[in-house]
Amino acid sequence: MHPLVRQFRDRAAANVDPAFWAYVTRGMDAGVSVGEAQSAWQHYRFSPRVLRDVSTVDTRASIFGDFASPIGVAPTAFHRLAHTDGEVATATGASAAGVPLCLSSRSTCRIETVAAEVNGPWWLQIYVTKERAVTEAMVRRSVAAGATALVLTADTPYVGHRDIVGSGRPIQLDDDLALVNMGEHLSPEQFADPWAHVDQDPSIDLDAIAWLHDISGLPVIVKGVLRADDSNRFVDAGAAGIWVSNHGGRQLDRAVSTADVLPAVVAEVGDAVPVVVDGGVRDGYDVLTALALGASAVFVGRPAIWALVADGAHGVETVMTALCDELRHLMGLAGVTDLAQVRSAGLIAH
Ligand code: FNR
Ligand code: LAC
Repeated sequence: MHPLVRQFRDRAAANVDPAFWAYVTRGMDAGVSVGEAQSAWQHYRFSPRVLRDVSTVDTRASIFGDFASPIGVAPTAFHRLAHTDGEVATATGASAAGVPLCLSSRSTCRIETVAAEVNGPWWLQIYVTKERAVTEAMVRRSVAAGATALVLTADTPYVGHRDIVGSGRPIQLDDDLALVNMGEHLSPEQFADPWAHVDQDPSIDLDAIAWLHDISGLPVIVKGVLRADDSNRFVDAGAAGIWVSNHGGRQLDRAVSTADVLPAVVAEVGDAVPVVVDGGVRDGYDVLTALALGASAVFVGRPAIWALVADGAHGVETVMTALCDELRHLMGLAGVTDLAQVRSAGLIAH
């Protein structure tokens, strides 16, 4: 784990509401998958190339937008429980670091306000809600606010039960916070029982990919994929990208580690569409491993939240910049000077 990631984690643990800390940290049930995620990256070993000019190392990435680095902020909900500035701070920090931001549709700041903080491309993560009009309105607002891709989260037909409190929500929070974005698209009658309308629709299937593309004109990345055959189905159904994820171990427990299944998904669809990955990524070594296994970008969830709790926008900028700097350092030691070389150099020994 990068020392700064650890430092922010420990500072956050000491300064945040215990209920929110449990919500952020825990996985589902026994937490088998969340417990295995980080070590899964450490099973791999590098075969570095040597005697190559690595005086200049370029980490720039172009994936549904141009970024300074392929390390992004994964979509995580309810940032105003982490810091009073919420997702606006997260976006400010990610933008300052020049990295991709995927905004959760469970943002506690208005989409437009967050988008105004991002001087460049950003992605919206979407849950298809039971009331389709809510999803459509959120998507159209995001297009108008400059989103460059949609991320359809496919592994959450309903929230895995972990520390469920109150109305079946993963954490107790006021509806005026949770419904900042979705609430304005509910009728007064619907607002009387909002979660009956804005919860995820468990009946969605492949058709959701084309529907989201049709209403937005944006590329649709399917998030939560752990199987090569699924990734093929999704690309055939119009997915422009695949996001290998087990939701940070927060959905089906004992799901495989993303580090273990990334190669199979890349082998299946990596020539057709970008494959991105998250789950247990905690330092530049994990990022280099994922990129060398064929990922086009790598995302972190909890490390960005910890940094947000600890030091707001500056914390997010600091931790993302630190991860990018470490990636650059390790690329030089591996004898590669850009992301194409990372993928083509055969860096993974086993
Ligand atoms: C998440 N994640 C998530 N995913 C998503 O598609 N929409 C969401 O709103 C959320 N919300 C959320 C909240 C919290 C507190 C966590 C920890 C995670 C999953 C997230 O995008 C990502 O897949 C994992 O967090 C990646 O694992 P690490 O980096 O947290 O280990
Ligand atoms: C979670 C949901 C919001 O992981 O995606 O808490």
